[in-house]
Amino acid sequence: MQPLAAGGGVSWPLYAATVAAALLVTAIVLRLAARSTAAACKARPPAGSLGWPLVGETLQFISAAYSSRPESFVEKRCRRYGKVFRSHLWGSPAVVSADAEASRAVLQSDASAFVPWYPRSLMELMGESSILVLGGALQRRVHGLAGAFFKSPELKARVTADMRGRLAAAMDAWRATAATGAGAAVRVQDEAKSIVFEILVRALIGLEQGQEMNYLRQQFHIFIAGLISLPIKLPGTQLYRSLKAKKRMTSLIQNIIQEKRRRIFEGKDLCAVSRDLIDVLMSNGSDELSLTDELISDNMIDFMIPAEDSVPVLITLAIKYLSECPLALQQLEEENMELKRQKSDVGETLEWTDYMSLTFTQHVITETLRIGNIISGIMRKAVRDVEVKGQGDVVIPKGWCVLIYFRSVHLDANIYDDPYAFNPWRWKERDMAAATANSGSGFTPFGGGQRLCPGLDLARLQTSIFLHHLVTNFTWVAQGDVVVNFPTVRLKRGMPIKVTPKT
Ligand code: HEM
Repeated sequence: MQPLAAGGGVSWPLYAATVAAALLVTAIVLRLAARSTAAACKARPPAGSLGWPLVGETLQFISAAYSSRPESFVEKRCRRYGKVFRSHLWGSPAVVSADAEASRAVLQSDASAFVPWYPRSLMELMGESSILVLGGALQRRVHGLAGAFFKSPELKARVTADMRGRLAAAMDAWRATAATGAGAAVRVQDEAKSIVFEILVRALIGLEQGQEMNYLRQQFHIFIAGLISLPIKLPGTQLYRSLKAKKRMTSLIQNIIQEKRRRIFEGKDLCAVSRDLIDVLMSNGSDELSLTDELISDNMIDFMIPAEDSVPVLITLAIKYLSECPLALQQLEEENMELKRQKSDVGETLEWTDYMSLTFTQHVITETLRIGNIISGIMRKAVRDVEVKGQGDVVIPKGWCVLIYFRSVHLDANIYDDPYAFNPWRWKERDMAAATANSGSGFTPFGGGQRLCPGLDLARLQTSIFLHHLVTNFTWVAQGDVVVNFPTVRLKRGMPIKVTPKT
């Protein structure tokens, strides 16, 4: 999921100016509150600067995030103050960590130390029952149920079959276009988004391709554009439009839930196997931690964020990096062709376990996660003074937020040799088991602790399937494109490639 998302298509100067204006009032109040909090407690936050009197350092952070070196904001301060420093971001005093050990300590902490914290527009749009905001037993419940569902072999088998079917249809269309001329132009990002969204939405709420799916996707685009927008809910603002879109999506999902309840009541739907995540959540809410229809529908919308954003971007980035590294592409292609040959010799189709068994393909995905930093960091708020061990012990005062900045750790030359080079082979030597389980020190693209991404296996699986079918069926020539890192990571032109079918 993407904590630092924002409304796309807004120019930087305009965005900066509007953010500055919006932060003005809240920042005065919060800053005064921060001073009194810090003064009242003995805790000493790490060295650093709270920046400008009203806007803190948010504008410098955003300015760096828009540049070709988003980590420059953090790097500069790390050199001056150390890898854990103080700042003032998004209207709150903040401790920023680019230190692997300190970041790990925060990720492993529970709700007695830190709770999730996001910019106000995001909190508003997610709603109180979102898993991203929930704490305590309810978060553990939803996380556990969703995690078990996403990891189940049945779901992986279904996602694999769906993905194969959708890719086959898309690739038939590319072949048909290619047959009329010199190759077919494909925008990888758009293709990946539409395929992954449909498949994950089917797994979440059981909706099939068609008009309702198109309507949902259209509303979802309006919703996601408001995740980091000005926190003003007046008609005409992005936040207002996004809230309306969320209402329309909620109504569609609640109709699905009610239809399921009606069928169960009438005894028509006594299927023992849960077909989608709604079934799982509905059938596990009978005790005191009952999951209301509102909680279920809110969370279904949150779960769509990786379907539209994180997973398609992972696929797109992998194809970009492979296009720029012919040796890696060649090795990945050989590995996948070999598997295809083995399976076709015995007349078998590939299972999800086959896709996941491709060692070099997994190295490519791991390296893409490291260098691409689809989620550059996550934020928490300290509910008490918390001492964190890292490069020197520091205290995060109660009420301050913490930005765990994965990007700087993933690009740290002390942890990764030549960190800006795309080098999937580095994972041969490193502890690959730790990397795929996402628990290796200094490698946390899926977060960690109680909030470790429950969809990490699915993200890897869908990416492996996409890569397999692309490299075994087509060759391609990539046109130039650049990675944009803010508000969300994406390819500026959607990664256009020209594909030619393999003979
Ligand atoms: C490349 C793909 C993905 C990346 C990089 C990613 C990254 C992350 C990260 C960093 C977190 C931790 C957030 C935090 O600690 O506050 C997270 C949480 C989460 N992710 Fe993913 N994710 C991806 C794919 C998915 C998929 C496919 C799903 C499911 C459909 C998913 C569902 C979730 C959920 C529900 C949470 C919240 C867990 C909780 O707070 O208990 N993610 N993800």
